[in-house]
Amino acid sequence: MPRLKYASVLRFLVILGLFCLSVQIMLSASNGIIDRDGEELMNSNDTSEQVLALVPPELHKYLTVHSKNATANATERASPKNVSDIRRAIQRHNDAQIIYNEDIFGPVQNDTIIIAIQVHTRLTYLRHLIVSLAQARDIDRTLLVFSHDYYDEEINALVRSIDFTKVMQIFYPYSIQTHPYEFPGVDPNDCPRDARLEQAKKLKCNNALHPDLHGHYREAKYTQTKHHWWWKANRIFNQLQCTAGHTGMVVFLEEDHYVADDFIHMLHLLRATADKSCPQCEILCLGTYLKTYQYHTTADKVEITPWHSSMHNMGMVFNRTVWNNIMQLQEQFCAYDDYNWDYSLLHLSQNRPGREKFRVILCKGPRVFHIGECGIHHKKSNCNASTVISKVQKLLQNAKSHMFPSRVTATITAGGAKHNKKLTKGNGGWGDIRDQELCTNMTKVGRQMRRYINYA
Ligand SMILES: *[C@@H]1O[C@H](CO)[C@@H](O)[C@H](O)[C@H]1NC(C)=O
Ligand SMILES: *[C@@H]1O[C@H](CO)[C@@H](O)[C@H](O)[C@H]1NC(C)=O
Ligand SMILES: *[C@@H]1O[C@H](CO)[C@@H](O)[C@H](O)[C@H]1NC(C)=O
Ligand SMILES: *[C@@H]1O[C@H](CO)[C@@H](O)[C@H](O)[C@H]1NC(C)=O
Ligand SMILES: *[C@@H]1O[C@H](CO)[C@@H](O)[C@H](O)[C@H]1NC(C)=O
Ligand SMILES: *[C@@H]1O[C@H](CO)[C@@H](O)[C@H](O)[C@H]1NC(C)=O
Ligand SMILES: *[C@@H]1O[C@H](CO)[C@@H](O)[C@H](O)[C@H]1NC(C)=O
Ligand SMILES: *[C@@H]1O[C@H](CO)[C@@H](O)[C@H](O)[C@H]1NC(C)=O
Repeated sequence: MPRLKYASVLRFLVILGLFCLSVQIMLSASNGIIDRDGEELMNSNDTSEQVLALVPPELHKYLTVHSKNATANATERASPKNVSDIRRAIQRHNDAQIIYNEDIFGPVQNDTIIIAIQVHTRLTYLRHLIVSLAQARDIDRTLLVFSHDYYDEEINALVRSIDFTKVMQIFYPYSIQTHPYEFPGVDPNDCPRDARLEQAKKLKCNNALHPDLHGHYREAKYTQTKHHWWWKANRIFNQLQCTAGHTGMVVFLEEDHYVADDFIHMLHLLRATADKSCPQCEILCLGTYLKTYQYHTTADKVEITPWHSSMHNMGMVFNRTVWNNIMQLQEQFCAYDDYNWDYSLLHLSQNRPGREKFRVILCKGPRVFHIGECGIHHKKSNCNASTVISKVQKLLQNAKSHMFPSRVTATITAGGAKHNKKLTKGNGGWGDIRDQELCTNMTKVGRQMRRYINYA
């Protein structure tokens, strides 16, 4: 299922030649879909001196925290728990709903900004995201919710070492890791991806009658990200005890994002601008994919435009009112044959009876970056996290005097053809009725009080 990419190194080189005076940099512009093949723990020790030099010394610890046994014996660390152990641990954590550091930073309020971070296995990137969050002004008034689809002691140790704000961990309970031989993982009796319908019927495999719109059968690893995104949103808005009266903003980040230190400041400006000039803007967005960055002209600019999945999926923000509207149309999300959460949301946006599609208000100078993708001209093998991270660090350092604008100017645009194009069909990968049903089932779970149970 190939997706469009926007980056072009060649174009960058030409532009660089022309505008070498302004702050410019090419990051990997992409559609923002995280690497869905990455089952490996992206965990190499490749934080370069260059990167460390731009991280305040007191935050170096987040680049080096290991679980107690990590250095002792790698073989043991790889499989510290079996599947039933992990399931039990996950249930215990989800039941307890522990909020770390609540004693220091005070309880979650109805208007506390919640920052939801979807985490898979890319530990190196997560370390840098945490370093960036640590440096954001007013971060101590937020709640960070780390949502995991892979249980790993080292990731857990890192998250629990955070001491600069309130932290919560939630664990997606239907992961491939905890269902290795059954749905939502891969059941040995599931149809092979490329089986033909007739062939599949003969095989009598589980999902023979439900290929996707391209005629392919489900691939567990491609469905997990959409399931996880949906579960996390349901968990945060509808199920946690601490959000029962929450009406504030929820920011959606991923493990390989990186934030600017004024992102919370910008969030308040976006909110205030929306309240004044665009009450129908349901989505706020902190990031956008650019080939070049010119903060001297864009740091204080915001844009109001139709929301589009692949352009406005990074650092998306909305509140419970908007979530309730999404929930009413959950079928548009769950039954749509597309394994991308963002395209599913676009489909929902375009099919709201009696309502316009979503409008977004976004920062023209991005405050969230995607550091986890190396661009189209790099093979995974020579993708160097340090290189991308140090580029972002320097970009932000050069833009320093333009950040924390005291006010912003909004422009309203109709969006290009791409923004407004009506989706005709999905990208596929979501034809299996079990996926559609699991997705719907997630919306039926109600609020759960904290429970401490001893699973001895
Ligand atoms: C990782 O980096 C740290 C700090 O530079 C160093 O002390 C350590 O030996 C490195 N570990 C490996 C396995 O390379
Ligand atoms: C990544 O790049 C940095 C700086 O450019 C370099 O020091 C480091 O060795 C590189 N790491 C890998 C794995 O190529
Ligand atoms: C560390 O490893 C030892 C065995 O090498 C094991 O007994 C112990 O439980 C492990 N500790 C943690 C915290 O995983
Ligand atoms: C790691 O643990 C395994 C299993 O306990 C053991 O066979 C191996 O020798 C250990 N390796 C090291 C480097 O301690
Ligand atoms: C998993 O490991 C625990 C010990 O850590 C053991 O008691 C249990 O029987 C194991 N379960 C399975 C299904 O192997
Ligand atoms: C939060 O909202 C709930 C439900 O609307 C309300 O009962 C509660 O008093 C509010 N809490 C605060 C501190 O305002
Ligand atoms: C929630 O978002 C909607 C749409 O952007 C906005 O109209 C409303 O004021 C927000 N609610 C709160 C409590 O901020
Ligand atoms: C959805 O929930 C129903 C009712 O609890 C259950 O029978 C069904 O197995 C669930 N489906 C999936 C895919 O989880």
